[in-house]
Amino acid sequence: MSYSISNRRIRLSPQARALTREIVLTPQKMIQPLFVVEGIKSREPIPGLSGADNKGTFRDTTESVLKQIESDLKAGVKSFLLFGVPDSKSENNFKYDFTANQIASIRKQFGQDVLLSVDVCLCSYTSHGQCGILNDSLDHVVNGATVDALAKCALAYAQAGADCVAPSDMMDGRVGAIRRALDEHKLENTLLMSYSAKFHSGFYGPFRVAADSAPKGEVKLKDRATYQIDPGNPSDALRSSLRDADEGADILMVKPGLPYLDVLAQLSAEIPLPWAVYEVSGEYAAIELMAEKGLINRERAHLETWTAFARAGAQIIITYGARHAREWIKTL
Ligand code: PBG
Repeated sequence: MSYSISNRRIRLSPQARALTREIVLTPQKMIQPLFVVEGIKSREPIPGLSGADNKGTFRDTTESVLKQIESDLKAGVKSFLLFGVPDSKSENNFKYDFTANQIASIRKQFGQDVLLSVDVCLCSYTSHGQCGILNDSLDHVVNGATVDALAKCALAYAQAGADCVAPSDMMDGRVGAIRRALDEHKLENTLLMSYSAKFHSGFYGPFRVAADSAPKGEVKLKDRATYQIDPGNPSDALRSSLRDADEGADILMVKPGLPYLDVLAQLSAEIPLPWAVYEVSGEYAAIELMAEKGLINRERAHLETWTAFARAGAQIIITYGARHAREWIKTL
């Protein structure tokens, strides 16, 4: 043979690898979550997320969150997902002002430099930590009343200046109800990103500390199994995502990420909308904690995970590491 077939030539130098690589990561395709907490005096670390170097994700105050966004913009991050954690909790009478005021102050300070998405759920607002309003026997989240509250919540956030509202509660019909409420109030340009394939996962631990949203108290309902998708039921994820697309969602999501790559690949091939994936707190923290123990290289593990998300079909990656992405990508 006078020529040599090689799969190695494209692997031999960093330049050749970069040139031939199919998946190119960039912070522009990433969303950085932020937590803003009412009534705290200074920012608080989140176990597993704040990083050994303290440059990770914190429970921010109304002031520190603005400084955080400023520094994230300098790091090339332009999209954020805000979680508001109000001080006072209730069973069915929620006030959205704390989060709405925060949205307005972010908008005022940063104008159109940021794309601000806001998580819409009641789990940080309820006294029992469930994602909605309970029935009288405290063993079931009532769908209709919860959807009404969520639509009001989303409307308040959009009116305060959110570019995108992101319902994560998993009630039936909330996407349609929110879309209608927005359209009726001339907010037809507000984006709606649905957590359409959100599973009942064991990987949400650090988040529930951050958002003060773990199921708690003297109620019969102890977990979220009656509204989040069963991990063994990918068809439910497909049906729920088709329905949310039908009800007017602009962006769909799979959550968590790594344990559901198969779902992401299948659903993104089937439904032609932009797909986001949420690398949730527990899966992010697993990498951080292994790296702290010296068992793996932190940057490499995060970059490899994000590459897997893009390969499986995600256009958008929601990750606590978005603010590190530009630096870490340089190490590729
Ligand atoms: C609220 C919500 C959750 C997350 C985002 N929105 C957690 C939950 O359902 O308890 C998880 C995010 C993460 O773990 O990083 N319903």
